[in-house]
Amino acid sequence: MSFYTIKWDEDAVLMLDQTRLPAEEVYNRYTDFNSVAKAIQGMVVRGAPAIGVAAALGIALGAREIIADTPESFFRQLENVCQIMGNTRPTAVNLFWAIEKMKKTAFAASNENLEQIRKALLAKALEIAREDMEICQAIGKNGAKLIPDSATILTHCNAGALATAGYGTALGVIRAASAAGKDIKVFADETRPWLQGARLTTWELMKDNIPVTLIADNMAGFFMGRGEITCCVVGADRIAANGDTANKIGTYTVAILAKEHGIPFYVAAPLSTIDLDCKNGSEIPIEERTATEVTHIRGLPIAPDGVAVRNPAFDVTPARYITAIITEKGIVQGDFAAGLAALFRN
Ligand code: MRU
Repeated sequence: MSFYTIKWDEDAVLMLDQTRLPAEEVYNRYTDFNSVAKAIQGMVVRGAPAIGVAAALGIALGAREIIADTPESFFRQLENVCQIMGNTRPTAVNLFWAIEKMKKTAFAASNENLEQIRKALLAKALEIAREDMEICQAIGKNGAKLIPDSATILTHCNAGALATAGYGTALGVIRAASAAGKDIKVFADETRPWLQGARLTTWELMKDNIPVTLIADNMAGFFMGRGEITCCVVGADRIAANGDTANKIGTYTVAILAKEHGIPFYVAAPLSTIDLDCKNGSEIPIEERTATEVTHIRGLPIAPDGVAVRNPAFDVTPARYITAIITEKGIVQGDFAAGLAALFRN
């Protein structure tokens, strides 16, 4: 790919600043874990798998910053680093999945000296990043089978290379279908209030020469009604045990529209996004972000000063609206509870 989302470089984490796209392609250099946590909160890096990778690399960075005389002191401070990472964004379960992996790695190496523990943590973070890319490619390969030739695919938000260590989940399916020689067109919802569709999905698809048409969020029903959409493919931030899926705010509306028009609605996500501890969607924590994201665009007010605002960043699409969940281990359809649980047994 002609860009990267996140990478380790000597003693630092490099991240493409997604708040500045598409106007500027700027890579920020982070040399302390606190600034990585702030970058996650501030949407410099976003998208469930990318947030997990950023947290893992941030923890590896944090482990190098710790000054400790004893293992107890090191582990106490590492716990604090993990807590700060965990407090950044509550919905994407990949964040907590990655933090758990890092903690387990540290404990497994606890008989080693501190330098060895730090090395083990960096190795694990790099492994999480490398595997995420491979997982996205497997999701793409599995999902491409569901996409007919000459399909026009509607997607919401950005579940692409920018939301992962590379390649993407929903956009991974689109990339794989296109690479398989299918004539694919994409409709990208703009995705208010952060405009991930307008700013990011269009940017990365245009770089890959995959035809993309930008529409405002309230236009999806119009194009579905005219028979112009073949299927929808979206990503996920957390999938409950019964298949209920949290994804970017507005996904639920798209899913209902798709059902009304008899259009397949696919969710593409890695196993690290599936949270079997959440029985159903009502148990998924939903992040609410600051009001200015709704009242302002690029610093310009678009609403009267002092207006009441709600700004949930995600919604939950009930499983009954989802045609299939595409993972790296295969496609789950029908009985989601049984199918999702089986993925973790095989
Ligand atoms: O608020 P964001 O931009 O982090 O939300 C991202 C999404 O909702 C994505 O669709 C989801 O994380 C899947 S990314 C492969």
